[in-house]
Formats: sequence, C-alpha cells, structure tokens
Amino acid sequence: MKVTVVGAGAVGATCADDIVRRDIAEELVLVDIKEGFAEGKALDLTQTASLLGFNTRITGSTNDYSKTAGSSVCVITSGIPRKPGMTREELIGTNAKIVEEVAKNLLQHSPEAIIIVISNPMDTMTYLALKATGLPKNRVIGMGGILDSARFKTYLQKSLNCSQSDLQATVIGGHGDTTMIPLTRLATLNGTPVSNFLNEEQLKQIAADTMVGGATLTKLLGTSAWYAPGAAGAALVESIVRNQKKVFPCCVALDGEYGQKDICLGVPVVVGSNGWEKIIDFKLNEAEQAEFNKSAEAVRNMNAVLDTL
Ligand code: LAC
Repeated sequence: MKVTVVGAGAVGATCADDIVRRDIAEELVLVDIKEGFAEGKALDLTQTASLLGFNTRITGSTNDYSKTAGSSVCVITSGIPRKPGMTREELIGTNAKIVEEVAKNLLQHSPEAIIIVISNPMDTMTYLALKATGLPKNRVIGMGGILDSARFKTYLQKSLNCSQSDLQATVIGGHGDTTMIPLTRLATLNGTPVSNFLNEEQLKQIAADTMVGGATLTKLLGTSAWYAPGAAGAALVESIVRNQKKVFPCCVALDGEYGQKDICLGVPVVVGSNGWEKIIDFKLNEAEQAEFNKSAEAVRNMNAVLDTL
C-alpha cells in the first residue's frame, strides 16, 4: 500500500509521521511546492525508522506527482493555514485553486486513489474536490469531524477526570467555529450518558469550547494546530488501508441522508478499503436536526462562493 501526503507543512508532516510510526503503509510520498522541503522532511523522517522501528519507505518530492503514482490513499493538506483571528472560511480564495489543482494532479497518477481533504475551509474544499474530479462519492472524504470529536473528548475528559479512551463522543455538521455540532446528548462514558455526571451548564460549556477548539489553538500557537489534525488524518488513513471499518464522523457527500443533498457535511460513516462505505443514522432529535440544517445552510453559502472565484 502506498500513501501520499500533499503539503509537508506542520499538519502534513505530522500526519506523515503518524502514518509511518504505525507502519500503516509500505510506501509514503510527501509532496510540497517549496523546493527541497518535502525531500528534507522525508529524509528526516526516514532517519527515525531504526529508532521507532518502522519499515515504511519514505520519499519526498517537490511537486513531481509522478513519484506519487499508484497511491491507494492521498491526503491533501495543501494551502495556507489560518492566523489568529481568522476564520477557516477566509482561506477559500487561496486554497480553492490549490486544492483543485492538487486533486487533479494526484488522480492523473493514481486514478484509483481515495482522497482525504484536510485543507480549509474543509467542508467546501471537500465539495470542490468531489465536483472537480468527478470521483465516486465514497472516494472523497473530508477530515474535520474526527478532529473535532477528539477535541470534544479532551474537554469532556477535563471535566470528568476520566480516560479519553473510555469516551464516545461525536461532532457532526461543519468544521467551522459556528457550524460544528457536538452531540452532547449522545456522548457516553463507557456507555453511560455523560449527562449522568455533568449538568446542563457544564455540557454547554464543553460544547462551546469544542466549537472554538481550533481558534483557541490558533491564538496560542500563532498558526493553526498540527498534532491532533495530523493524528486524525492518520487514523482515517489507517482505517482505509487496514479496512478497519471504524465509524468516524467525516465530511461526505449527502444525498438525502440527514435531510440534506448536494453538500458535503460531517456525519458518522463507516471507513474501510472502499473509502467511506456507509452513513450511520444517529437519529437526531428535532433540535439537533435544526442545528444540522443551519450548519448545512452556512456551508452551502460558502460553497456558492466557489462559483465567484
Ligand atoms: C484545525 C484546523 C486543522 O481545526 O482546521 O485545527
């Protein structure tokens, strides 16, 4: 199995690092537009192989997509990250052109690849990648909900003082500060609703902190985060390469599911060797569905901007 990561910046390089550490792929190719940058990261990562005990062969390439030929999974992290005070949506003008070009270049050499989109604004970039390539919908996956759910679990853990691995908690909807929907009603600690331990006010605060989770980090770091986004991308790659059939909230094309169509938005899906294989119906209540519809409206407005670029 060969995996390509495009964009050797902080998110792409961390994602590549997590993929090789877990020996998920036989081969990993890192691509970047900056001369020598991906080659340097690839060499540095390769020098960790004997220390960390992995076998993945790593190649770096400055924009030469022929090196990516035959990849099963391609992760797109290209584009500019947000700066403090910026929303993910403000990146659309720059990132749309980059994501479209990268997706087309990748498919030219890996026509069977499953494409994972991490670039922001992620929901719109996923929609763009799907439309621009004409790929079957199961082969285009936006990574946002896994990251947002990991942040949700972090804030739940802080309040519950528990192990994060005992938590089941999902964020659906858009990957935006105002469009994501942490499903507090369905969050559990080993199957027990977290509402048994936390009051309404605490749950509201956890949801609010989760929604601005990325912005909080951008403010602290001066740029957007990379450890959790990279790890979330790698978890997605692993579920595809190892056909794990994990249920992850991912941004996928909806065709009537969750009451929406002609949009890519975060919902729980089964992820395996065919990409996203099935949408799981969490049976939202009325209030959650209303939130989801509101989120869809905002993302749809952002998608409409693509026609003006
Ligand atoms: C974040 C970026 C990757 O939420 O969207 O950190």
